[in-house]
Amino acid sequence: MSVPRYFIPQPMVRIMAALLLAAAWSPHSAAAEHAGFKDDIFPILQKYCVQCHQPGSQGYESSGLDLRSYEGLMRGTKHGPIVVPGDAFLSNLNVLIEGRAAAHLRMPYQSKKLSRWERLLFRRWVNRGAKDN
Ligand code: HEC
Repeated sequence: MSVPRYFIPQPMVRIMAALLLAAAWSPHSAAAEHAGFKDDIFPILQKYCVQCHQPGSQGYESSGLDLRSYEGLMRGTKHGPIVVPGDAFLSNLNVLIEGRAAAHLRMPYQSKKLSRWERLLFRRWVNRGAKDN
């Protein structure tokens, strides 16, 4: 029995369709759409930033930035806010964690850059209004 050259077995078609759907709706892109302060942003701040950005530590003492809470993050540094709700391109927070400023100012200070995923979460969260959500 001869099979037409363009024949693709049915299970293959299903697998290919499933892969395409998975790529389009991967948990990463879907979850990042809903990046929330409590579940996504605050845990990153606690893990990588708070040790220096609280009273008595070097980040707080030199910039005035207290990252122990949403309010502290939104208050910003002694020079003013670091978050422009709706605009991650202009927000100093994103500029610094993405390394778009002077290299010695990249945050977390003098340590490994945040992962792409973590930086993406910050960007989505700011672009979506930087809400206390
Ligand atoms: C090892 C300590 C340390 C860690 C960890 C750290 N910072 Fe900093 N941070 C500093 C210091 C020191 C400064 C002041 C740098 C300067 O002005 O030269 C600073 C300054 C800043 C500033 C203000 C820069 C300005 O415009 O004046 C921001 C925003 C900031 N940090 C965000 C973060 C974020 C977000 C994290 C976590 C991802 C983080 N930092 C982690 C030490 C730290």
